Amino acid sequence: MSLRLIPGGRPRDAEGLLVTGASEVVTMAGGLRAGARQADAGILDAAAMGGLGTAGAPIVACWGERIVAVGPRDAVEQRLEAEGLPLERFGRLDAGGGVVTPGLIDPHTHLLFAGTREHEVSLRQAGAGYLEILAAGGGILATVAATRAASAEKLARHGRRWLDEILTHGVTTIEAKSGYGLDLATELRLLEVAFQLGREGPIDILPTYLGAHAVPPEFRSRPDGSEAYVRSILEEQLPGVAAQGRARFCDVFCEEGVFGADECRRILEAADKLGMAPRLHADELAPSGGAELAAEVGAVSADHLAAISDQGIAALAAAATGERPVVATLLPATSLFLMSDHYAPARRLIDEGIPLALGTDFNPGTSPTPNLPLVMAVGCLELKLSPAEALSAVTINAAHALGLGDEIGSLELGRQADLVVWGVPEAAQIPYWMGADLVRTVVKRGRIAFEHA
Ligand code: NIG
Ligand code: FE
Repeated sequence: MSLRLIPGGRPRDAEGLLVTGASEVVTMAGGLRAGARQADAGILDAAAMGGLGTAGAPIVACWGERIVAVGPRDAVEQRLEAEGLPLERFGRLDAGGGVVTPGLIDPHTHLLFAGTREHEVSLRQAGAGYLEILAAGGGILATVAATRAASAEKLARHGRRWLDEILTHGVTTIEAKSGYGLDLATELRLLEVAFQLGREGPIDILPTYLGAHAVPPEFRSRPDGSEAYVRSILEEQLPGVAAQGRARFCDVFCEEGVFGADECRRILEAADKLGMAPRLHADELAPSGGAELAAEVGAVSADHLAAISDQGIAALAAAATGERPVVATLLPATSLFLMSDHYAPARRLIDEGIPLALGTDFNPGTSPTPNLPLVMAVGCLELKLSPAEALSAVTINAAHALGLGDEIGSLELGRQADLVVWGVPEAAQIPYWMGADLVRTVVKRGRIAFEHA
């Protein structure tokens, strides 16, 4: 297989880009998807519009970093001319009969860490539990030790290596959590590296502060360890992270045996006041009040939910009808990798009208995969999502899970020109060719950022 990464994207010989020759354009137009609308991908199907290559076939027009028109070729061309955007100023990208979708969005990653933990798989095969390994000083704490010892340069090299691969899977925006420092200096280092990697591009990165990921070793030996660490988050880390100004969100690991709902509430409320919007690792292993807390604090997203309670579902269902819906971001690759016998109740969440997103949870302990289309496949097989539901979960709903629903995640007038050309004739095949290399071209902010050679 030969791949080509194009630094900086297409040359600026043309100000615009016309994406033609698509069998389907998956627009995701029309906002957040919930309930039955989770399955509405807003597809423009060439076969139903006169056929591939005809004047009625769907195209996408980008100008600079934005989308300026989507629809049948003749209508789009007329509109561009009418708006003073002559066609000769547009470059062409031929989708070759493939599918065009919005750039995928991964709303939950732990991008930056040092070291690996493959040995924990055999420990779990021998019967050890995830929290048992953590309590014995392994798990997250093993990654914390390796990450504290890693320089910013080393973390940046690791980040670039994985971002290059993430781009080849059609992902154009990710969230990236800290949480493997658990002291102010290392948390700031992780957030700064995440921010700078986003600035380098082409992938946009939204940094999240996750100081409440585990109680670090220097606090574990103290009888009041957990409370003392929460106080150090409130009094030292949060003010330091806010002063640095890189973190967009604050996350917490709200889980029985890690941080309780009361501790998480204190942290998230304080973070919110400092301008970091709340999101949560909620009810991953046991019902822990995480989903309820997400609704209470108006989190943008409640993540995992493999062990969500009936009350948690009711709380998210109520939020879904209100002013601030909480997106349920499901991470089925984690359940798979932990060899869990239970997955998040995705069908029930959809029936209750709760909007779903999907993320990789890319991290060294529970989900070492950077492949979001593979997660879509697991979402179809284990969460019983339809391909269209999985697609809205990694585009428009993932955008909403990052508070960016008006900016990315759909191919609509005025949105950022982030899109993917796939080497398949129907969108339903994206999660079908499980783990396959399907991405042909990635456009980020109107420029070609990756091409399959
Ligand atoms: O989302 N659950 C907490 N955090 C990560 C795992 C982190 C780790 O094991 O290193 C997760 O699964
Ligand atoms: Fe996670």
